[in-house]
Amino acid sequence: MSQTDRRRDRLIETYRKKAKHYDITSRLYPVPGYPQRTQRLRAVHALALRPGDTVVDMACGTGLNFPLLEKAVGPGGRIVGVDLTDAMLARAQDRIETNGWSNISLVQADAAEFDFPAQVDAILSTYALTQVPECAEVIAHGAAALSAGGRWVVLDLKVPDNTPGWLAQLGTSIVRHFASIDEWIMRRPWEAIRAAMQEELADLSWTELFFGTAFLAAGSRGPETPGVQPGGIGHQ
Ligand SMILES: C[S@@+](CC[C@H](N)C(=O)[O-])C[C@H]1O[C@@H](n2cnc3c(N)ncnc32)[C@H](O)[C@@H]1O
Repeated sequence: MSQTDRRRDRLIETYRKKAKHYDITSRLYPVPGYPQRTQRLRAVHALALRPGDTVVDMACGTGLNFPLLEKAVGPGGRIVGVDLTDAMLARAQDRIETNGWSNISLVQADAAEFDFPAQVDAILSTYALTQVPECAEVIAHGAAALSAGGRWVVLDLKVPDNTPGWLAQLGTSIVRHFASIDEWIMRRPWEAIRAAMQEELADLSWTELFFGTAFLAAGSRGPETPGVQPGGIGHQ
């Protein structure tokens, strides 16, 4: 078995254990009181969805974003939830049935291998993409599938720049259960995500959230060739 397969199996095992109580325990991540709901709202807002749009929720987990996405695209829109872990998708399926949503389809796939539907209007990934070693490729594959003007939005945790130790812990505690935190800090996946989005999308905006422990990155596919334009940088 390759190192990649071993890492993937470990991740699936970890999320199988978390799935049942994820909706409750995730409220405590990375620390109790973290403004996760506010960050999710901002991320969905940044997608600029319209009724009837098609949106991919990459690494959707149990579908915590689905209510917000449903509200934005309406019954005439379409949501595709993608995740690697069967047990997380099972919880997402429960959520779909409980709410009677008929416009959401779930796909079990590795983000790195997922074949994005062509001409999709928007792609979202929340608190997940920094866990994917091939995150830059995922950004590129998604960008290629977007319709002109389509939006790619990533919300995830990061280590604050020039951070003291306790803040680094805050930003990274979400991943400590399934990966080497040192590896995550060393790899600095948010930088790869930012570089890939800058490369693949026009008008990238990058906003640091909650003392730099999270970021919201958003950009659109240009009308013709994906553009490389200077990005706006904000702090909040
Ligand atoms: C912290 S959870 C976030 C779930 C959801 N996006 C949310 O905001 O609640 C991370 C999710 O990423 C999924 N994941 C991790 N690596 C993945 C990969 N390579 N491909 C697809 N999903 C992956 C896990 O199975 C898990 O459901």
